[in-house]
Amino acid sequence: MRLFTNCTAATMDGPAPYGLIPDAAIAVEGDRIAWVGPRADAPKGEAVDLGGRLVTPALIDCHTHIVHGGHRAGEFEQRLLGASYEEIARAGGGIISTVRATRAATVDGLVASALPRLDALIADGVATVEVKSGYGLDIDTELNMLRAARRLATLRPVTIRTTFLGAHAVPPDYKDRADAYLTEACLPALSAAHAEGLVDAVDGFCEGIAFSPAQIARVFDAAKALGLPVKLHAEQLSNLHGAALAASYGALSADHLEYLDDAGIAAMAKSGTVATILPGAFYAIRETKAPPIAALRAAGVPMAVSTDMNPGTSPMGSVLLAMNMACTLFRLTPEEALKGTTINAARALGLTDRGRLAPGLRADLAVWAAETPAELSYRFGFNPLHSLILGGKA
Ligand code: NIG
Ligand code: FE
Repeated sequence: MRLFTNCTAATMDGPAPYGLIPDAAIAVEGDRIAWVGPRADAPKGEAVDLGGRLVTPALIDCHTHIVHGGHRAGEFEQRLLGASYEEIARAGGGIISTVRATRAATVDGLVASALPRLDALIADGVATVEVKSGYGLDIDTELNMLRAARRLATLRPVTIRTTFLGAHAVPPDYKDRADAYLTEACLPALSAAHAEGLVDAVDGFCEGIAFSPAQIARVFDAAKALGLPVKLHAEQLSNLHGAALAASYGALSADHLEYLDDAGIAAMAKSGTVATILPGAFYAIRETKAPPIAALRAAGVPMAVSTDMNPGTSPMGSVLLAMNMACTLFRLTPEEALKGTTINAARALGLTDRGRLAPGLRADLAVWAAETPAELSYRFGFNPLHSLILGGKA
């Protein structure tokens, strides 16, 4: 047994703020945490001195699109000149321009371009990353994106969770025929991907420029028939009541939520659906309406925070920056921001074996050159990560 000792442990467990244990020790057996508590009470073990540093659960980025072809720097310039994200999308740019680049890429190429994005997250203390498909929008490319995502997990010592996002946009070949796209491409792609073991969850984009609630319900019904959990990009640009729809399917999370209303909040609270807050997308498209954080908090809806790393609305490679922005732009507390990338991010992925420091959970630990956990959200453009311990291995 190894004993990581001489540290401040933000366990994210128990009633104390951050579940903080000053002068703590963490015992690890194999890839699991065996014991956490005050150093004075620690069991015997091979001691590793952490030099008084802060330890948290390794971070979890629960909403990303890191597998994709190309980039959208040109659209960034168009938006700066006044075009809106929706206008660009309706003119055949946006998600569809990344679809063209992704279809042209090989699985090897997708893996090669995603690796530096994954490495940026790992450098930020992240050990679990969700990766979505959704830039293929045909059977072959949706499968290739998920194969690329699975391959990433063989190249780095982190956990990748895959999410099928075939209902992300209507491809040009199915313009104005969204239901036919679902019948002929999206739902068959979901079945094929599931049969190949490529799908951990199913997502969609419920929006005027994407899919209606009735169309999303078709995708969720298919997911349910396969026994897969669902989540949804909801209320990002307008209120189509997607969050309430997702909640009615017991969704793991509803994400973005700038236009979420009280009925959506109540539905999420009832179903235990996590609200995943994505400040990078809010910032990049210069959105002015913030998600209803105070009302989510009052209703007891758990909140996660994520990068939404994608080439269009959130070309952002830092989960620490997402935490800072969630505080500064949306007034989350630093504790809520850290819960958002640990315990609540785990919940948004349906994972019960991580996100806290507690016996029996995975020994994925982030060691920080910081005294207090609020420092992780407070600075921006600094990276205080000292080291990552993944599955008990430093
Ligand atoms: O999470 N909202 C939809 N999907 C992505 C954006 C995708 C894109 O523009 O490429 C998001 O913001
Ligand atoms: Fe997204």
